[in-house]
Amino acid sequence: MTCKIPDELMNPIKEKYEVVTVESDHALMSRKRLLGEIVDADGLFTNVADHIDEELFEQAKKLKVISTMAVGYDNIDLQEAKKRGILIGHTPGVLTEATADLTFALLMATGRRVKEGADAIQNNEWKGWLPFYLTGQEIYGKTIGIIGMGRIGVGVARRARGFSMNILYHNRSKNEEAEKDLGATYVELDQLLKKSDYVVLLAPSTKETYRMMSTAQFQLMKKSAVFINTSRGSNVDEDALYEALQSGEIWAAGLDVFENEPISANHKLLQLNNVTALPHIGSAAIETRMNMARLALENLVNGLEGRPLVHQVI
Ligand code: DGY
Repeated sequence: MTCKIPDELMNPIKEKYEVVTVESDHALMSRKRLLGEIVDADGLFTNVADHIDEELFEQAKKLKVISTMAVGYDNIDLQEAKKRGILIGHTPGVLTEATADLTFALLMATGRRVKEGADAIQNNEWKGWLPFYLTGQEIYGKTIGIIGMGRIGVGVARRARGFSMNILYHNRSKNEEAEKDLGATYVELDQLLKKSDYVVLLAPSTKETYRMMSTAQFQLMKKSAVFINTSRGSNVDEDALYEALQSGEIWAAGLDVFENEPISANHKLLQLNNVTALPHIGSAAIETRMNMARLALENLVNGLEGRPLVHQVI
């Protein structure tokens, strides 16, 4: 296990299996240690921060199952796993609402400049009420464009409906349910970018979505538009986003994910006032993380004991 999870979940597993993990709640297993420990492992409990690549598979001669405590599995080389007959489990469903909550929180915080306001007080910069001090973008009744209308996209649309937003979406296939139940309208990506006040990126990370948001896409957006990314950093060309934000091509961005995580305070995007940045905490609600850990353990144990995984990728 490359990360520690609470004892109440770990202890029953420890009664049956020899568990190798880290000592601290605040650190993940180092790559070096993982490459050493994987040699003897029958199962691997992992997360979005580990790179499960060919180098690791080469060492993992006994491995039967990999269980990631995440819905996304872009950090795992599926072809290598398949070649070796290793099962992959993940945790969809249980994190939908928490991630939709955080996405909407980031949308609101970015649109209404919440971080700048909090920082102003913290830095002793608040001089008093002024007519246009820290004015942001309205949210209620505006148009939201959701790129990627999967479970989390639908969750965000449901929240947007509560704010009487006009909901546009773009997805590989149409989501009839979202259209019928939430009044969402399918549009081509260009149309979504042109018409939306809030563009929310929720597409999975694939070869097709790699840097799908780049200069041309930001140029299509309104100058008053807010861009939100709670999917994967690699879906965005960060240099192009920086240019768009700095030149006023778009108004602001709220980002929970980055191409190379973790980022440090000197990351280029953090130098801009119109960026609200969070450390990949979309699913970080206590109940949700407990449910993710529980489901990931169930996938792991099922794989070790020859049963089908609850949620199997391959
Ligand atoms: C996921 O599950 O893929 C998130 O990015 C981490 O919760």
